[in-house]
Amino acid sequence: MAASAPDFLYGTAWKEDRTAALTELALRMGFRGIDTANQRRHYVEAGVGQALAAAYRAGVVTRAELFLQTKFTYVGGQDHRLPYDPAADLSTQVAQSMASSLEHLGSDHVDSYVLHGPASGRGWSDADVEAWAAMVEQRDAGRTRLLGVSNVSLRHLEQMEAGGAELPRFVQNRCFARLGWDREVRAFCAARRIVYQGFSLLTANPEVLRHRLVGGIAARLGATPAQVVFRFAQAVGMVPLTGTADPEHMTQDLASRQLALSPDEIRTIESTAG
Ligand SMILES: NC(=O)c1ccc[n+]([C@@H]2O[C@H](COP(=O)([O-])OP(=O)(O)OC[C@H]3O[C@@H](n4cnc5c(N)ncnc54)[C@H](OP(=O)(O)O)[C@@H]3O)[C@@H](O)[C@H]2O)c1
Repeated sequence: MAASAPDFLYGTAWKEDRTAALTELALRMGFRGIDTANQRRHYVEAGVGQALAAAYRAGVVTRAELFLQTKFTYVGGQDHRLPYDPAADLSTQVAQSMASSLEHLGSDHVDSYVLHGPASGRGWSDADVEAWAAMVEQRDAGRTRLLGVSNVSLRHLEQMEAGGAELPRFVQNRCFARLGWDREVRAFCAARRIVYQGFSLLTANPEVLRHRLVGGIAARLGATPAQVVFRFAQAVGMVPLTGTADPEHMTQDLASRQLALSPDEIRTIESTAG
């Protein structure tokens, strides 16, 4: 059985025709968690499937050793290349998107299925209730082991909970240091044993990468500021994502797991920009 939550995820967005080669490289470099989406606008999920097939053939990894995560994306987040009939009801769209994902990925199940984003930024809507119920059905039918939500605010999560919905096992959010590294959402997750996955940890936080304190810690450890940020993220309970296309960065990102930050350093980074 694949790990319920790997400690690092390789993200496959924005790689277009390099998706298969870069995902295979990431697997060869040691990543065991893969994040994708059935959203052709930003991802080539079929390319991820090609990488998996190549890695299995070459004996790099087996399906059972992997954590595969993909997403259901509403029409509003897609371009014209849809993985479902937009005229169908949401429950059918979710089922069609899932069937297409499993075909792309060459598997009879994924490990995590994520709602890419709620229908409205203002709150958890009726559409979300319907899509989420359909995702729970997919889980109950064995097509995913776990469920998640992405791009959510504390309000979304509180409304989801107040509505009596089953809570997600994962929350995947863009993590801004200036918002206390998404402090409120992380606290909600921590109190409910929801695993928080953080993306754009580097690109959303250039001021942190330039920060004297982070530079000092990196120098002490013989590491890069990017590695310090990834290690910090893990130390405060996040699963970081990286979508690096650079083999050296792949090695560095995975190696960051071994860096020893002191409790003081973790506290200081956490409060640096929040
Ligand atoms: N749920 C959502 O809506 C959503 C939205 C965005 C992203 N995501 C997921 O998150 C994944 C990651 O996306 P991201 O937004 O975090 O950005 P990203 O695509 O990972 O980009 C990170 C940037 O940091 C650089 N980088 C990575 N490791 C580095 C290192 N060790 N040292 C220096 N630079 C380094 C990369 O450059 P190099 O390529 O040169 O290393 C790249 O320019 C995506 O692929 C996707 O799976 C999800």
